[in-house]
Amino acid sequence: MASLWHISVLLVLVLLGGSDANPVAPHRSQMDVNHKKPLQTFRPFNIAHRGSNGEIPEETTEAYVRAIEEGADFIETDILASKDGHLICFHDVTLDNTTDIAQRAEFAGRKRTYEVERANMTGWFVVDFTLSELKSLRVKQREDFRDQQYNWKYNIITFDEFILIALYADRVVGIYPEIKDPIFINQHVKWSGGKKFEDKFVETLLKYGYSGEYMSEDWLKQPLFIQCYAPTSLIYISNMTNSPKLFLIDETTVRTQDTNQSYSEITSNGYLKFISKYVIGIGPWKDTVVPPENKHLGPPTDLVARAHALNLQVHPYTFRNENKFLHFNFHQDPYAEYEYWFTEIGVDGLFTDFTGSLHKYQEWTTPYQMKPKNAEALLHQISNMLKDDGY
Ligand SMILES: *[C@@H]1O[C@H](CO)[C@@H](O)[C@H](O)[C@H]1NC(C)=O
Ligand SMILES: *[C@@H]1O[C@H](CO)[C@@H](O)[C@H](O)[C@H]1NC(C)=O
Ligand SMILES: *[C@@H]1O[C@H](CO)[C@@H](O)[C@H](O)[C@H]1NC(C)=O
Ligand SMILES: *[C@@H]1O[C@H](CO)[C@@H](O)[C@H](O)[C@H]1NC(C)=O
Repeated sequence: MASLWHISVLLVLVLLGGSDANPVAPHRSQMDVNHKKPLQTFRPFNIAHRGSNGEIPEETTEAYVRAIEEGADFIETDILASKDGHLICFHDVTLDNTTDIAQRAEFAGRKRTYEVERANMTGWFVVDFTLSELKSLRVKQREDFRDQQYNWKYNIITFDEFILIALYADRVVGIYPEIKDPIFINQHVKWSGGKKFEDKFVETLLKYGYSGEYMSEDWLKQPLFIQCYAPTSLIYISNMTNSPKLFLIDETTVRTQDTNQSYSEITSNGYLKFISKYVIGIGPWKDTVVPPENKHLGPPTDLVARAHALNLQVHPYTFRNENKFLHFNFHQDPYAEYEYWFTEIGVDGLFTDFTGSLHKYQEWTTPYQMKPKNAEALLHQISNMLKDDGY
């Protein structure tokens, strides 16, 4: 697991100062993108949900490095902000469930109750801690049925550090960051010059050279999907970056955090058509696509067909190997679940907690091959070289 590349990524992050949120962007030649194995684009995307978080505590350098070693096309993260305005990779707005905050006596008085997405929540909130305080915490595995051996070993990383992990990978690896809880973050964190969370988010991506429409030359060098549950944030950033964006869709009972729209409103043909001006696809909770009945699959809804008819990609979440998450139809076989979603439902990518399993499934069923077009071009080049050499 400790490959040379793994060690060099960790070294780079240490050299960049760890807690500094403004490391120097790497020089393009350093990343040597032209000589890297390109992103595969011939089969659905393997999106490593919070890194390889089925194995290693979520959203840590180690979880992302592991996901890249296991074959992720994209590494996925949730972006939140510290009290002093630094962007970090962290899923919950509270620190309670995945850090050692409760054991840190000096922070005992920092517990608060805030309204988050129309519900009151009590805990230690990331927005009440500076980046250096957040960096002093240690993280743990969220699920008690997963490997606990990495607990308290790793720390929270910044958005900048996350991007560098992808840019320094030994092949082209895309990033898939979420603008997380933008209403809440903009209420609690203020930036100079009246900038908003979304401005800082896009600025960070632009600083590292992320730009370009889906499948453009620039995009293929540094692939990126921006995801968000709040449609107003996606619309707000639409004239700041042309990078592809995905509209996340929650459970059928959840209303949008910004526009307070219901599930049926945001998945209507009219709304999907409207949002398709801003996004390249949707990221639905998988049970809205195939609603389960007593832990068996029910009949699929028409959401995927209607999205595809509007040329929208569909990247459902979240796929997990453990039996407790697998519907009985899949007879405790996560490969059977992948097969169903690719062959019966026809999705364009999947968010998985176990990137390694999805990669193995895809390598068995749709292995990476040199495209015929590339092979032809290569033969052409070789025959020209031979001619030049006088053969
Ligand atoms: C949250 O608590 C405050 C103070 O008790 C209350 O005024 C508010 O209505 C509560 N909000 C929700 C969504 O329950
Ligand atoms: C911790 O996780 C539990 C279970 O998911 C959740 O109900 C609770 O709200 C979380 N606590 C905080 C403070 O986020
Ligand atoms: C985006 O559009 C809005 C409204 O149309 C405008 O106020 C804003 O300045 C634009 N931003 C950029 C970066 O072009
Ligand atoms: C959101 O919409 C629901 C349904 O129309 C309504 O009951 C609720 O009051 C609305 N909430 C807010 C904060 O506007």
